[in-house]
Amino acid sequence: MISQSSIEQVFETARVEEVIGDFVQLKKSGSNYKGLSPFSDERSPSFMVSPVKQIWKDFSTGKGGTSVSFLMEHEHFTYPEAIKYLAKKYNIEIEETVQSDEQKQQANEKESLYLVSEFANTYFKNILHKTGQGKSIGLSYFKERGFTEDTIKQFDLGYSLNEWQAFTDEALKKGYNIDYLAKSGLTIVKGEKRFDRFKGRVMFPIKSMSGRVLGFGGRILIADKKAAKYVNSPESDIYHKSNVLYGIYQAKQAIAKEDNCYLVEGYTDVIQFHQAGITNVVSSSGTALTPQQIRLINRLTNNITVLFDGDAAGMRASIRGIDLILEQGMNVRVCGFPEGEDPDSFAKQNTLEELTHYLESNSKDFIQFKASILFEDTKNDPIKKAETVKDIIQSISKIPDPIKREIYIQECSRIMDISEQVLFTSLAQLGQKNKEQKSKDKPKAFEVIKPKASVKKVDVQYLLERKLIESLLLYGNKVEDFEDLIMKENEKGDIVLEPVIQQAKVFEKIFLDLQEDEMEFSNSHFKTIYYTVIDALNQNPDFELKTFINTIDYDMAYEISNILMEDERYTLDDWERMNIIPKKKQDGIAQLVSETILTLRCFLIDQKILEFQKETLQNKTQTNRNILEEVKEYSGLKMLLSRKLNRAL
Ligand code: CTP
Ligand code: MN
Repeated sequence: MISQSSIEQVFETARVEEVIGDFVQLKKSGSNYKGLSPFSDERSPSFMVSPVKQIWKDFSTGKGGTSVSFLMEHEHFTYPEAIKYLAKKYNIEIEETVQSDEQKQQANEKESLYLVSEFANTYFKNILHKTGQGKSIGLSYFKERGFTEDTIKQFDLGYSLNEWQAFTDEALKKGYNIDYLAKSGLTIVKGEKRFDRFKGRVMFPIKSMSGRVLGFGGRILIADKKAAKYVNSPESDIYHKSNVLYGIYQAKQAIAKEDNCYLVEGYTDVIQFHQAGITNVVSSSGTALTPQQIRLINRLTNNITVLFDGDAAGMRASIRGIDLILEQGMNVRVCGFPEGEDPDSFAKQNTLEELTHYLESNSKDFIQFKASILFEDTKNDPIKKAETVKDIIQSISKIPDPIKREIYIQECSRIMDISEQVLFTSLAQLGQKNKEQKSKDKPKAFEVIKPKASVKKVDVQYLLERKLIESLLLYGNKVEDFEDLIMKENEKGDIVLEPVIQQAKVFEKIFLDLQEDEMEFSNSHFKTIYYTVIDALNQNPDFELKTFINTIDYDMAYEISNILMEDERYTLDDWERMNIIPKKKQDGIAQLVSETILTLRCFLIDQKILEFQKETLQNKTQTNRNILEEVKEYSGLKMLLSRKLNRAL
């Protein structure tokens, strides 16, 4: 268990915009930040982070909460994992009460796999740097490849001894369970026998976006035709090959900053580029990019440059996967290397300046590139040329943005010397086919389940209750001058309303007013939040939303971020563009609160009156005196409230 004081220290230090900024490219937007949702596949940003409120809200999926809930959602961390992650990020030392054996066992399976992988990572590093064999074989191999000490450290490279079960023995000695060693693939279990999977290989740990070790690639040191050059961790609960990109942890900041991601094939390409000074680079580890991997990049940038080795086979392989990237709405550029070179060798032989220059002058837009090489291949063969056109149109049809599609059609028409009209027609035909295919793929039921926007009616009571909770959260502690109207008899004997100013804290005003009318929140979430917040405000004169939100549970933090970020939804698109500045809430808090309470009261009275009317209608025969009396009374009250409200407005 992590001690309470450590948890508090973490909360005090962590900034939600910084925590999320490590995963999502955030842009300043008014007093908030916005970015593309990391939880959905969207192309226009609806993900908001509020530095003032220290919360986030994803309007595309409805998720939201604190920095901790973000980590729990996004990294699938448990609560303690999220705290530990934050502590590490902000260099906070965590005090921990020791885990019992029982607790250790309860730590879930995934966590055990993370732990065993982390241990292996440390172990392989130690072997590389601290043992004779590690230094003379592993380290000297890396040095020979031109990796510096810093690079080796930055990528946590390691070495696995050339012995059958040196690693496994050490791990067992340290108390790691053989089941997890086997599940992570670090140990191969065959009956009674155990073998180190990575025996005698140099080790490349594969990390998640947040830096957790998920698996390994191990490279053989001797040229052996029978053995695979690389051995990789098998799929496990924590390592899904198609979801990870080698180097993403080390590259993510640079990718966002440069607004471009270089994609290479191999581990060593990534490392050599880093060492050369180009750090926005990741590898798909020798396979075509998967949609999940593209999405990982898409969180950081919209631009990708695919680098392929200087051989025809490499190029063809790269081209095949690229339609998938276009489909995700990304801008794709491609860049080849001279015959016989790959990014690794090229980076090694050139200065940073030369490398940068090479990349800049040789990167081409993918569609243009594809059109030009295909045109070269087929310009003298009309039948092949027709096929080529289909091929290009196929790629263009994957681009979601119609404007971009049109520009590409014009470009290709020029490059391939075919009329735009023909290209457009063939695009339209393909579009139709794609549509049919898509509707075949997706079950129709989906459309039936989807709620119709127009059916959703505005729930006044809900909105008012939410406004009250919002005021409570944002301004609960503020002292304000509330104007109340007291009924008085004037000289002429008429009843008049006389304004009286009363100073009170916002939360006291809300609490007392609601209590006076015996009003309850109809929404059960609001009700729970209401009492929790009132309690917190009552107990702590220095109540701060930022601190409070970190002390409550996950669900409530979610609800609260829903309430507080609702207004921001409208700042996302049109409002901002049209330069409409929403009314500042800070002006007239007292008025806002009074107005909301009064409106809610009016609303509830209307409801009551309606109820009574219904009742009288049902009991037509016996005119119910009591009911009529009550209606009269409520109507009077309603009039009084309306007068107050008119003043407040
Ligand atoms: N790969 C693999 N298994 C293999 C061969 C390759 O998993 N048997 C993956 C590795 O991720 C490797 C990438 O494919 O990094 C590219 O392969 P290759 O170009 O052969 O390796 P390089 O990274 O260039 O390795 P090196 O420079 O060390 O030969
Ligand atoms: Mn290579």
